[in-house]
Amino acid sequence: MQVHENFCLKKFNTFGIDAYTRWFAEISLQNDYDELLRFYHEQKIPLLPLGGGSNLLFTENFDGIIAKISTRGITIISEDDRSTIVDAAAGEPWEHLIAFCITNELYGLENLSGIPGQVGSSPIQNIGAYGVEVKNCISEVYAINIDDGSRSKFSDRECQFGYRDSIFKREMKGRVIITDVVFRLSKIRHFNLGYGGVAEEVQQISQVPDLASVSKAICNIRDKKIPNPKETGSAGSFFKNPLIDNDLFFNLKEQYPDIPHFTAADDRHKLAAAWLIDRCGWKGYRKGDAGVNKLQPLILVNYGTASGSEIVDLARQIQNSVFEKFGVYLEPEVNIL
Ligand code: EPU
Repeated sequence: MQVHENFCLKKFNTFGIDAYTRWFAEISLQNDYDELLRFYHEQKIPLLPLGGGSNLLFTENFDGIIAKISTRGITIISEDDRSTIVDAAAGEPWEHLIAFCITNELYGLENLSGIPGQVGSSPIQNIGAYGVEVKNCISEVYAINIDDGSRSKFSDRECQFGYRDSIFKREMKGRVIITDVVFRLSKIRHFNLGYGGVAEEVQQISQVPDLASVSKAICNIRDKKIPNPKETGSAGSFFKNPLIDNDLFFNLKEQYPDIPHFTAADDRHKLAAAWLIDRCGWKGYRKGDAGVNKLQPLILVNYGTASGSEIVDLARQIQNSVFEKFGVYLEPEVNIL
């Protein structure tokens, strides 16, 4: 394992923030994890595992060690008539797993096509899109404990998945490094085309949907709205869609009868953060190189040389104006460092 000192992170975060880390190491082999932990215990500095860098925002230089997870391998572990169990190393790019599913005719993850990032990050925020969340297909998550190097296995239930949430964002934050994710994928052909616009887009590609056409349709829908992080710096949705209680909801519904909403569990209602931000007039806003995406205002963008603090300032202004107008707090979805 090679360790670099004073290392630039610009290419390692999709926001394209020009921050530095004191130490940087790349983990390609299982043995590298042990070496990394030895280094971490010797130096007594903060440790941050890094996947695709597509859900974080650096607001300052990182005074510790960043471990870029680059382990590879996607393997079928077992199968029966209905499903196939697949182990994927944390460092596999998410798109490789989607391609593997298409090639091997495995159903379940196709609506998550086009999401940037790596396999190991997918359970942390329970990635979701177009009516599907990754938790539907995860059977186990393997991790290494930062404290003592021992290995742990989390069943899907132990992961405590919620909307953009899991135990890895809470109790286990900073305590484990995810090494592998085990997926239970279906051999039975079935699709989830209920999310607005998906069925229509699939129809344009093929009369009889298959994995490749559904995956392509999802990528097309994303391309129309979501900036490609290879071209414009961003970390996808900056905020979560807020969950609000009955009283506030009925109040808002009276004032704004067209407010988009979905009833969630426990009499709470999920609102579309994009709509709230849009109604506050932020769409297409730009100050310097920090901006709000023109097509999907839930996405904050870096047009070039914005700093992390400029993006966070903009996020605060958006939070304040949404709170003033609607009384709703927008919680960041992005990990702000
Ligand atoms: N809307 C507006 N104005 C806009 C755009 C959207 O009012 O300019 C409203 C519309 O009512 C629309 C609603 O917002 O129906 C929802 O918009 P969209 O379908 O684009 O989804 P989203 O709720 O804004 C979530 C995820 C996305 C995911 C899409 C599609 C979160 C935080 N974001 O966005 O995930 O791709 O659904 O399923 O849940 C990400 O996490 O990085 C991400 C991109």
